[in-house]
Amino acid sequence: MFIKNLLENKTIIITGGGTGLGKSMAMRFGELGANLVLTSRKQDVLDETAQEINEKTGAEILTVATDIRHSEQVEKMVDQSLNKFGSIDSLLNNAAGNFISPTENLSENAFRTIIDIVLVGSFNCTQAVGKSMRKSGGGTILNIVTTYAFTGSGYVVPSACAKAGVLAMTRSLAVEWAKYGIRTNAIAPGPFPTKGAWKRLVPPGLNIEKKMMERVPLKRFGEHNELANLASYLLADESGYMNGEVITMDGGEWLKGAGQFNDLERMPKMAWRAMDFARGRKKK
Ligand code: HXC
Ligand code: NAP
Repeated sequence: MFIKNLLENKTIIITGGGTGLGKSMAMRFGELGANLVLTSRKQDVLDETAQEINEKTGAEILTVATDIRHSEQVEKMVDQSLNKFGSIDSLLNNAAGNFISPTENLSENAFRTIIDIVLVGSFNCTQAVGKSMRKSGGGTILNIVTTYAFTGSGYVVPSACAKAGVLAMTRSLAVEWAKYGIRTNAIAPGPFPTKGAWKRLVPPGLNIEKKMMERVPLKRFGEHNELANLASYLLADESGYMNGEVITMDGGEWLKGAGQFNDLERMPKMAWRAMDFARGRKKK
């Protein structure tokens, strides 16, 4: 899809880069020539992923265990990245925490934990990387949100509130920081199977996975490489006029939920014919 050296000489920080979608996007950036900084809380997971990506792509990779909820840890991680690579071209705010729960059962700490990881964590990384990007003349920030950042969703209220905040930050900084040469965009993925998300959001034994797939008009889940290619485009210089955008990649899922009459697809053909007959229209 892209020229092989699309991201050559670019240094990209990926939060939550040791697992799931973060790992898949990192792998793709590595294939396209980027230097990588992988960060999350677990050093062993990061090192294992870095080794795998390095063996497959030859990318230069720094791993730094960081809890993004704490700004001093984030600042240290950014300093280490600058010491190794000299400058930072892109930040991918991908790390997240989530679980399903009836909202009435949530403690303040449960709500705060998700807000801290997703919203405060993304802010901490954006603030620390933004400082270095302003000095070096610009860069790109890409935030991974969800479609319920704009629709809302029951049973994931902390995550919905936090992701809505990240979306607002995306659009706000796209305007405010454009003067520094910093572009800020977001991707709202639909369902892309990962261990982390499925363990917390797809309870086993209730056939929920099948129902999730049926809700998607394309009748399948997303493939990691599809998301990784979109992310690569948004971080590349060739997307230089994209700023403040949130791109949905969900097989049409949220629109199907939004259209008030979409459920009419369940209506049998016979019922449509009966309605035609009732309004006097002849069968074709
Ligand atoms: C209600 C819960 C809960 C649950 C935790 N809590 N799980 N409350 N229902 N299922 C409460 C706890 O009781 C506690 O409150 C507070 O939340 C903090 O919990 P801890 O376990 O102490 O937090 P911590 O160790 O920091 O772990 C954070 C975590 C964990 C979010 C709970 O799951 C985690 O580390 N997740 C990281 C990865 C992740 O979540 N990936 C999925 C992203 S998927 P009290 O009051 O008891 O102290 C995603 C996809 C979106 O975002 C869209 C998909 C289609
Ligand atoms: P995942 O593998 O669980 O990814 C979450 C990552 O965040 C993990 O690597 C985790 O690593 C890291 N993390 C959590 N808390 C952290 C903290 N305090 N500090 C630093 N890192 C932290 O799940 P995923 O499905 O790939 O999700 C990746 C992103 O895609 C998330 O933003 C998610 O909301 C979004 N998304 C996913 C889907 C989907 O269908 N999978 C759909 C829509 C949006 P540690 O636990 O080791 O710290």
